[in-house]
Amino acid sequence: MSKLVRFGVSLDEELLKKFDRLVAAKNYTCRSEAFRDLMRQELVQRQWQEGKEIAGAITLIYDHHKRELVNTLMDIQHDFGDMIVSSQHIHLDHDNCLEIIAVKGSPKKARQLADSLKAVKGVKHGTLSMSTTGKDI
Ligand code: NI
Repeated sequence: MSKLVRFGVSLDEELLKKFDRLVAAKNYTCRSEAFRDLMRQELVQRQWQEGKEIAGAITLIYDHHKRELVNTLMDIQHDFGDMIVSSQHIHLDHDNCLEIIAVKGSPKKARQLADSLKAVKGVKHGTLSMSTTGKDI
């Protein structure tokens, strides 16, 4: 672990009050932890923008009764097999399924995969959680 450094920040009092309300609302134990999270969020965003190796999760909600839907989703996933780390299928109820697909690799390909899956007819909802491998942040 690297050395801990303290530094001062000058900012508008009103902005600090707003930030402190946010810190309390999000149950942070201190400003520093909230500030560290914000910084890391920006760094992760930058990794995605700069095409660094990233990690993330795609979630899909769909009705498995829709014809060809499951096959199409599977075909797409096989095309991106090199970046899918694992996937989990949960039967939410009689009709609806939740699929969680963990990915690692190129941000461009992760977006392509998420977009392709979300665009399949019958997918009710899809998200891409843009995270990090944890390196360099
Ligand atoms: Ni299912």
